[in-house]
Amino acid sequence: MKQRPPLFVGNWKMNKNASQARSFVESFLPLVETFPSTVGIAIAPPFTALAAAAAALGSKRRVALAAQTMSEFSEGAYTGEIAAPMLAEFDVAYVILGHSERRLYQHESDATIGAKVRAALDAGITPILAVGESLAVREAGDAVAHVLAQIQAATGDLTEEQAARIVLAYEPIWAIGTGKNCDCDRAQEIAHAARTARNAFADIPILYGGSMKPENAAAYMKMSDIDGGLVGGASLDPRSFANLIAGAIAE
Ligand code: 13P
Repeated sequence: MKQRPPLFVGNWKMNKNASQARSFVESFLPLVETFPSTVGIAIAPPFTALAAAAAALGSKRRVALAAQTMSEFSEGAYTGEIAAPMLAEFDVAYVILGHSERRLYQHESDATIGAKVRAALDAGITPILAVGESLAVREAGDAVAHVLAQIQAATGDLTEEQAARIVLAYEPIWAIGTGKNCDCDRAQEIAHAARTARNAFADIPILYGGSMKPENAAAYMKMSDIDGGLVGGASLDPRSFANLIAGAIAE
């Protein structure tokens, strides 16, 4: 049994409106209420569904709220952006930063992602820093070096105390939404390299993401440096997400 508590985060991406988010929460809460309280669970709805999800989750918050991104700035003339204090209004506990889809489609650089990580920490929101390599990088044998470089670029100037407050998510790009999940030993190799890159990472949650499903989640949890999942497609259905977590924590 690992000392670090498990954590599962459902990244809904650009799916579900406010009423669909409310229905999800109403179905999902009864399914997870008997899970041990040490099991961390969060959902990351789109911004427009945060208020509805927050209201449906209530103040007890057995299931936490996460955002899918945020601005590195706290306010100002940044049309279309959402700032950390706006997320705090809904008691958002986590924010996913550096997801490969944002690196690709929104051209987010390591420097921008690093600024967002610092802004989240300053606002008391836990950043979930997503990292991962493309298929070409993996085939060239450079996956570990690539991921460590991404982590260093986004967190290198954090203090030890700050670095110990982040969550890392290893999401190989070629495994996202493809049904081709990463071999557990390979994911463990990356997670171990990340954990040992810095003393501050000794006790942080390290998640795996990329076609994690109810059928394969338990195998990742057996890996000594993997503490949970950042789940896309399988988190959209309440039963599927609850089954995934149940399978993963059932020894
Ligand atoms: P899938 O679980 O759909 O592969 O998505 C993973 C992901 O990108 C989570 O952030």
